[in-house]
Amino acid sequence: MSVKDCEIVELPKICDPRGNLTFIESGRHMGFDIRRVYYLYDVPGGSERGGHAHKELHQLVIAMSGSFDIHLDDGKEKKTISLNRSYQGLYICPMIWRDIDNFSSGAVCMVLASEYYDERDYYRDYSQFFANVNKAVE
Ligand code: TYD
Repeated sequence: MSVKDCEIVELPKICDPRGNLTFIESGRHMGFDIRRVYYLYDVPGGSERGGHAHKELHQLVIAMSGSFDIHLDDGKEKKTISLNRSYQGLYICPMIWRDIDNFSSGAVCMVLASEYYDERDYYRDYSQFFANVNKAVE
């Protein structure tokens, strides 16, 4: 699993002069079924979120409002993706360290996740993540 697997997913967009509409169907617009939805909001300027990796979790991250930057790191390669469209999602596969920053005022970061919340699925220590990601490759 690498940052190359983490890509922007274009979601359906029904344009309408009354306001646009986007929909997401579990398992259809991403390769996993949705078990959990959470969102970050009221993020103070200059804040950073993330700072962890997941062992098994698949996620789709959407900027429902405003914008922010997601820095991805698979232990070898890094890439940064800016999200600012509510009809685009960033798919993040397991074993990717992510930091999220540069939140605009009023930004809402919604995450669709493949599993219920489980603290045991997290790497919160970068050196532990790095050791395990390299072990998986060997
Ligand atoms: P965390 O995943 O560290 O947030 P982020 O990656 O967005 O910065 O979670 C912050 C806190 O919220 C932590 O104590 C765990 C709790 N939490 C839940 O209880 N359920 C959830 O679904 C999530 C994502 C977090």
